[in-house]
Amino acid sequence: MAVQISPSILSADFARLADEAARVENVADWLHVDVMDYHFVPNLTLGLPVVESLLKTTSTPIDCHLMVQDPDRWAPDYAEAGAASVTIHAEAAKAAVRTLRAIRAAGARAGLALNPATAVEGYEDLLPEIDMLLVMTVEPGFGGQRFLDIVLPKLARARALIDKYGGEVWLQVDGGVSVETIERCAEAGADVFVAGNAVYGADDPARAVAELRSLAERATPPA
Ligand code: DX5
Ligand code: ZN
Repeated sequence: MAVQISPSILSADFARLADEAARVENVADWLHVDVMDYHFVPNLTLGLPVVESLLKTTSTPIDCHLMVQDPDRWAPDYAEAGAASVTIHAEAAKAAVRTLRAIRAAGARAGLALNPATAVEGYEDLLPEIDMLLVMTVEPGFGGQRFLDIVLPKLARARALIDKYGGEVWLQVDGGVSVETIERCAEAGADVFVAGNAVYGADDPARAVAELRSLAERATPPA
């Protein structure tokens, strides 16, 4: 289980996205792009045209987190555009299996996200359909929110379900991940760490990524 860090550009300067992406190139494993439509969450960010432009400016693989009301309609387009990973919300998808399969068919990794109040039990049978499970550690919609400790037991249960299943499914955490909280996430079994404020709020984003990585690696339980 290798630690991967996915800086979220939600906390970056949206007028300088190419430069902001370049600040973590060759240091971050992924670039996390939060697509919000003002319906699934009470915030609006960016959509497909911006992702297409970003794909042309960075060599870092793009990890699209779709916080949209109709992911069944939109997710395959992000995969076809070249995002290496596309994550849909369980609470929003009406045909999750079809959409996850369409993401994979377009050549991307398929992710399924769960809000803090959504139980992981009940999604166990979908594990063969996904490459990553995203456990939200804040209510989605905004960067810089406080980490929700109450989600940690669910994160540990998600890790146990993935281990029992035995296939290769990454376990991502998103929301309030920082030098204060990343070790607890790693101990509970997360292996992909999204960080917005902790990376782009730092003076040196590349250094912040390295620091988060070393904390997570030290806290990761031996396989
Ligand atoms: C929140 C987004 C996150 C956000 C995390 O809805 O999904 O990716 O950027 O930001 P921080 O790390 O600042 O909590
Ligand atoms: Zn996100």
